[in-house]
Amino acid sequence: MDLVIGPLDLSAHVDEALAVQAAAFGLGPDEVAVRRQIVLRHMTHPGARALGATVRGRLVGFVYGMPNDRTHWWSTVVEPYLRAQGTDAWLDDSFVITELHVHPSHQNRGAGRSLITTITDAATEPRSILSAIDTESPARGLYRSLGYQDLARRVLFPSAPKPYAVMGATLPLLRRTPGQ
Ligand SMILES: CC(C)(COP(=O)(O)OP(=O)(O)OC[C@H]1O[C@@H](n2cnc3c(N)ncnc32)[C@H](O)[C@@H]1OP(=O)(O)O)[C@@H](O)C(=O)NCCC(=O)NCCS
Repeated sequence: MDLVIGPLDLSAHVDEALAVQAAAFGLGPDEVAVRRQIVLRHMTHPGARALGATVRGRLVGFVYGMPNDRTHWWSTVVEPYLRAQGTDAWLDDSFVITELHVHPSHQNRGAGRSLITTITDAATEPRSILSAIDTESPARGLYRSLGYQDLARRVLFPSAPKPYAVMGATLPLLRRTPGQ
């Protein structure tokens, strides 16, 4: 597979990215319209960065994130859950992975792992945090294999029906040892 990982101007390619996310994560048209405004707003935040995975010029995956800011909506939602576990210091000096998605037609070929390790390798923060649906999904398996550990579980976001886990890892992320 001619997979290329590189910088993505997410504001300019928001519709292609959301088409990938819709296929990977199962978003309907109304949710895509809401996400579109959120993504465009996120990309104005200081330090927000995105990477794309392309195959012959077609976007098949993307990741984006930004330095955490305790005043951001995501951080205010997760903070009480982390505080209850004594893990809320992870909200400081941390690079948040806001979204990571690979189109189903290109999953399980290393794109997701490359996207998240490449974006966090360029972070100046010593650690990274994210939230993922609190179930044994490929995403949770991938994050654990990279060193992310649970900071809080059963985290409820307004309007999201499923509970999430918040995970954190020190940077750089773990690499696979040859033979494993
Ligand atoms: C999570 C996701 C981004 C991973 O991307 P990917 O390109 O498929 O991942 P990779 O090929 O780099 O695989 C990394 C690891 O994930 C796990 N994995 C990937 N696909 C899997 C599957 N279908 N079943 C079980 N494990 C799987 C494996 O542990 C794999 O490890 P390996 O590299 O040692 O084999 C992708 O599955 C996806 O977009 N899922 C739907 C959307 C989503 O859940 N996004 C995350 C939101 S928090």
